[in-house]
Amino acid sequence: MSDAPRRLGILLSGRGSNFLAIHHAIAEGRLPNVEIALVLANVAAASGLEAAIQLGLPTALQVSKGTPREDHDAAMIALLREAKVDWVVLAGYMRVLTPAFISAFPNRIVNIHPSLLPAFPGLHAQRQALDYGAKVAGCTVHLVDEAVDHGTIVLQRAVPVLDTDDEATLSARILAEEHLAYPQALARLTSGRYTIRGRQFRQA
Ligand code: GRF
Repeated sequence: MSDAPRRLGILLSGRGSNFLAIHHAIAEGRLPNVEIALVLANVAAASGLEAAIQLGLPTALQVSKGTPREDHDAAMIALLREAKVDWVVLAGYMRVLTPAFISAFPNRIVNIHPSLLPAFPGLHAQRQALDYGAKVAGCTVHLVDEAVDHGTIVLQRAVPVLDTDDEATLSARILAEEHLAYPQALARLTSGRYTIRGRQFRQA
């Protein structure tokens, strides 16, 4: 593998706190030899997009509303290719990707989900954990395949569920772990020093 920095294309739809955690990790040297090549939003009002603009990072907006899924994803693929991204990083990107998008970046798309998968895939994972009565919750960084919240697990971090928790307090405790987990997982992936056998991700 060449020594050129690994180029991240970050996709987001909203707040962007995971994007900012990744940005800070790069700035602080916790994510070596990595750069953000593009922050790409599908929602004009995404505050993560505004934050990226303020930081002077390369940004693009490809509004998804009203566009057929295939056409939208084709436009996203073109922008990411133009930016020469090595890794597509989903950071609160609230749209299911088409098979064409997933096969455009094979084993190079990463997501973070606020549960210990395979428990509680889909929306409102923190509320699902509370409603189920789980005593431990957490977050999962995983590679993306065609099933939602399903691909190879790279890293998980756990938190306790407290009797006093509501959705907001549990979500905040998990989010703090997400901000540690995503940079750590990306450091592992972008180092290239790992193997995947079946579903098993191993540091080489
Ligand atoms: C996070 O909880 C993440 O796990 C989920 O979407 C949320 C995004 O938050 N996929 P943010 O936009 O990164 O603050």
